[in-house]
Amino acid sequence: MSFPDTRMRRNRRTAALRAMVAETELGVHRLILPLFAVEGSGVELPILSMPGCFRQSIDRLVEQARQAVDLGIPAVLLFGIPDRKDETGSAGYAPDGLIPRAVAALKAALPHLMVWTDVCLCEYTRHGHCGVLRNGDVDNDATLPLLARAACSYAAAGADMVAPSDMMDGRIGAIREALDEEGFLHTGIVSYAAKYASAFYGPFREAADSAPAQGDRRGYQMDPANSDEALREVELDLEEGADLVMVKPALSYLDIVSRVKWEFEVPVVAYSVSGEYAMLKAASRQGWIDGDRVMMEMLLSMRRAGADAIITYSALDAARLLQNGWQR
Ligand code: PBG
Repeated sequence: MSFPDTRMRRNRRTAALRAMVAETELGVHRLILPLFAVEGSGVELPILSMPGCFRQSIDRLVEQARQAVDLGIPAVLLFGIPDRKDETGSAGYAPDGLIPRAVAALKAALPHLMVWTDVCLCEYTRHGHCGVLRNGDVDNDATLPLLARAACSYAAAGADMVAPSDMMDGRIGAIREALDEEGFLHTGIVSYAAKYASAFYGPFREAADSAPAQGDRRGYQMDPANSDEALREVELDLEEGADLVMVKPALSYLDIVSRVKWEFEVPVVAYSVSGEYAMLKAASRQGWIDGDRVMMEMLLSMRRAGADAIITYSALDAARLLQNGWQR
């Protein structure tokens, strides 16, 4: 049947009817808030290109996380920015490093909050690459034990999930094996499985002071031209023991989110990255877009594409709107 017997607009007539036939929901229980930890106390340094985001000492970070919990946000993803960087990123895997201390403080203050920790060397290495260097190149196999050590120190501190973002081959297997050997059978792995070499990470690298001093990350992160390759990455990570798989960035890669979701039928996480947030905030501040509505539409589109969960710097803003009965 077609027009005039069928009129698609009939199901769009009222808000109640539209809500009844909506295919996708966005709930606060889907959101993960990223947080940046620094040393010290009482420290809260605004990140200029990410309005509303800060680098915080552990005491302030706990208070920020408490706000998230009060709004119903179930999880945070921690990044550490150490005082001292070196060639092998040792501050990233020290058992008493910034992240283990932040995890312990969060778990003590907010026992029901899920704590996820990014696992990568780039915030901790002087050269800013995600692994150790040999002859100017990132040495994949020499990096694996260091990532595994980092994951174990975070797990020992109480992290619920570790999230390797380095894109070395074999890291999920290496981390799973190390976690199991040390008895952390329940610590999950969120794999940044399809992570692209993206210019959308710009504001994050300012925030984390982690831009590579020389070269770029195209030798280990994925080429934005590719989509079949993302499926292979996901397949390998699942075989190696990933519990959740991630696609990153989100907005320009919703086709990848969809393919991964429908192909593998596993939980998929979309990471809406710093550049997506910066664009949203900048245009909204100029008054060029309605920031709240664009934010909610972005998040809904990620859910519609197939993301079960979304890592977003907008988590607090979105949670506040949802708590106040946000209506599209
Ligand atoms: C670390 C890491 C990065 C991001 C998350 N983990 C930066 C990078 O790969 O250069 C980016 C997050 C964002 O832009 O919001 N490897």
